[in-house]
Amino acid sequence: MRALNPTVLVVGATGRFAGLIVPQLVRRNATVRALIRDPANAEKARRLGASEVVTGNLRNPQSLGNAVEGVDGVFHIGPAFAPDETAMGVAMVEAAGRAGVRKFVFSSVIQPTNTRLKNHASKVPVEDALYSTNMEYTILHPANFMQNIAAAWPSIVRDGVFSEPFPKTAKLARVDYRDVAEVAAIALTEARLSYATLELCADGMHCREEIVSMMSEELGRSISAGEPTFGEWAANTRLPYDDRQLQLLAKVHEHYAKYGLGGNSLTLRCALGREPRSLRSFIRELALQTAQVA
Ligand SMILES: NC(=O)c1ccc[n+]([C@@H]2O[C@H](COP(=O)([O-])OP(=O)(O)OC[C@H]3O[C@@H](n4cnc5c(N)ncnc54)[C@H](OP(=O)(O)O)[C@@H]3O)[C@@H](O)[C@H]2O)c1
Repeated sequence: MRALNPTVLVVGATGRFAGLIVPQLVRRNATVRALIRDPANAEKARRLGASEVVTGNLRNPQSLGNAVEGVDGVFHIGPAFAPDETAMGVAMVEAAGRAGVRKFVFSSVIQPTNTRLKNHASKVPVEDALYSTNMEYTILHPANFMQNIAAAWPSIVRDGVFSEPFPKTAKLARVDYRDVAEVAAIALTEARLSYATLELCADGMHCREEIVSMMSEELGRSISAGEPTFGEWAANTRLPYDDRQLQLLAKVHEHYAKYGLGGNSLTLRCALGREPRSLRSFIRELALQTAQVA
């Protein structure tokens, strides 16, 4: 990096996942410039630790030019199932490359070359755009986020059922996005992850039957595994997605139903230099929080 305390632009700094990058960067003495769409989110970005806030939009290349001015690094994550996710990612890469940004971390997805899934395929051209720049890029391929379970947690505790719209025997690789955030922050503040493409998974691939057994042990009461149809699950989950986005998510779940989701923890352990956070410890944290508010 050209600076000891680099300035890093964080796309989606107030989002559920990119928001976890901000404190990790601050811990490593980076100055965070948050890219937000809505100026009303400025205070939230500052509370997370951003010392600079810039308003911009991935659909407006000129605003990206202003946002990257003078930064040493960029963290980018594409909004889930956006129809123009590719164009937004490529625009961000091009703006950073033009501005002479040194480091770029792209939070992509595990198995982006599984192009039968549109939300995976949409990330491939963004990765490709990075190869044709002179930036030190690091590409992250995270598995299914454990934070999806945190989002379902209130209903799991209320109803005693953990439901996902694929068989309860399907085994999925998952990752705690806090570990992904730590890897991203290392990549943006040190040299050792430059030019790496990293599959990021916790140990083990667990099915829902195993997960509810962990939940039951940690909560001290029985949680069962539900197997709703996609329609039933989507109606209960009330995700902020339109019909097209829901169709793309349904395809992901069809894939899980047939093949599960394979993943290996080797590269995450190596990148972190410690054991990855486990699904068991993630569930334990959720159960402890529940016990504290009871
Ligand atoms: N969920 C999983 O298990 C999983 C696993 C692997 C990979 N992924 C990938 O991870 C990503 C997660 O996406 P998410 O949307 O759920 O993440 P998120 O952390 O909620 O971030 C999306 C952020 O992007 C910002 N954003 C949206 N449109 C924008 C625009 N036009 N200009 C500037 N910023 C914009 C949003 O800003 P606002 O705050 O203004 O809305 C939000 O802060 C997806 O690419 C998904 O494919 C997900």
